This record gives sequence, C-alpha cells and structure tokens, in this order.
Amino acid sequence: MASSNQIKSTWSWQQKLSRAVEVLQKEGIKSFWFKLLSEIGYRRVFWLKRSLEGPIPNVKPRLHVAISLLKKTEVNEYVGFRTELDSSYVASRLDAGHWCFVARYKGKLISATWATTNQTSSSFLAREIRLKPGEVYTYDSFTSPDFRGLSVSPTVKVAMMRYFRDTGYRQMICWVLPENNPSLNALQRVGFRSFGMMGHVKIGLWRWHFYRTHESYDLL
Ligand SMILES: CC(C)(COP(=O)(O)OP(=O)(O)OC[C@H]1O[C@@H](n2cnc3c(N)ncnc32)[C@H](O)[C@@H]1OP(=O)(O)O)[C@@H](O)C(=O)NCCC(=O)NCCS
Repeated sequence: MASSNQIKSTWSWQQKLSRAVEVLQKEGIKSFWFKLLSEIGYRRVFWLKRSLEGPIPNVKPRLHVAISLLKKTEVNEYVGFRTELDSSYVASRLDAGHWCFVARYKGKLISATWATTNQTSSSFLAREIRLKPGEVYTYDSFTSPDFRGLSVSPTVKVAMMRYFRDTGYRQMICWVLPENNPSLNALQRVGFRSFGMMGHVKIGLWRWHFYRTHESYDLL
C-alpha cells in the first residue's frame, strides 16, 4: 500500500468527500468506518502466509493473460496503470531489488503484485518488516477495476509462488485490511491463511503497537 507522501498530489476536500461517498457506496459502512479510524490513528491488519513447500494450485483466469516481471523500461507503462503513483517512487522499488509481477491482457497491463525478500517497511503500519530466511513479502496487489472478479490476481500469485519456490524460497507472507473481502478471497483461493493481527493506536506523537497471533509465529 502506498503512503500518502508517495502519492502524486494531495487530495482536495472535494476529492476526499467524493472518495468517502464512493467507499460508503461500494464497500459499505463497516469499511468506511475502519478507513475513517485508520485516518484518525487506529490501524489493524491481518497477516497471512502461504507455504511454498506444498502443492501450488492451478488457477484459470477468465481471460487469457501473459505474466511477466516489470522492467525498469516499463515504469511509465506501470504508472499509466496506477496513475496515483509517481514514476520515481515505482523506479525506487525496482532499484531496491523488489519484483513486480504483471499480467497483461492483449498487451495492456491490467494487474500487478509486488514482492521483496529484503528487509522493508510499511508506512501504513509505521514499522519495519523483517523477513526470515526463505520468506517473501508480497504487497500492493492491484487489478484494474474493469478486470476484477476474473481471477487475474490469483493467477499472478500462482506465478509468483512458482517463481519463488523454484528459486529456493519457502514461504510468502502479506497483510490485508480485515474488511477487504475481495483481497482476502483472492488470497485464500491460492492457499494464504491468516496467522495474526497487527496494528497500532496513535494519539499525537504517542503510538502503541500490538500483534496477536493464534500460532507461535514470531513475526517481526
Ligand atoms: C484485491 C484485488 C487485487 C483482487 O483482484 P482480482 O483480479 O479481482 O481477483 P479475483 O478475480 O480473484 O476476485 C477476488 C474477489 O473480488 C470480488 N469481486 C468479484 N467481482 C468483482 C468486481 N467486478 N469488482 C470488484 N470486486 C469483485 C469477489 O469477492 C472476488 O472473490 P470471489 O471470486 O471468491 O467471489 C482487486 O480487487 C483490487 O485491485 N482491489 C483494490 C486494491 C486492493 O485492495 N489491493 C489489495 C491490497 S492488500
């Protein structure tokens, strides 16, 4: 998820209001409420993991897509697909060694997911993300609105699983907002399972972090 300082421009009040109405209409009151709380200072996410040691499912997208890794020369194409992101920010992710798996339909970029195996950070969670050996952190999945619900994002995840398994990695992890049902559905379809909840409460400069897990999984 991109932080506000990585987004191209600051939103006006009219844009914020129209976004609030859009969230209320499309995602419902629960999602609206938690998005509002996250702006105020309370944030929480589910962490999910997926072992790469077991079988990897076959997912058939409902349209023919070609999957590849985004190249530095394709950053402008990516920014055309994610117009809210700045090209220098996208290039900096690639420079930091992150992978971006993209799906194209008839040559047009319609879905992408990022991954890294290095220590990184999340501006949304306001903390470092330290990975264990053999672990891959996947983030910022996005499918163009016109192509959602066609199993494109799960197809990208499966390609990533094969790629990382074949290069010796053992597990993929990611986080998602609990009310983001489309994302949870897409992840669960390819075998991701929740193992804990992490978040923080921020009041002024004071911030209290919490992490609860139902497994003995020592995250971060
Ligand atoms: C999450 C996301 C990447 C899923 O991509 P996708 O290619 O649509 O994935 P799927 O086709 O598997 O659809 C996943 C779920 O989206 C929902 N969905 C179905 N049709 C949809 C549509 N037309 N529009 C929106 N969501 C739809 C369904 O809940 C579906 O699950 P189901 O098939 O089990 O019912 C996509 O919804 C997206 O880009 N969302 C905005 C960004 C985001 O939230 N990213 C995740 C950050 S952690």
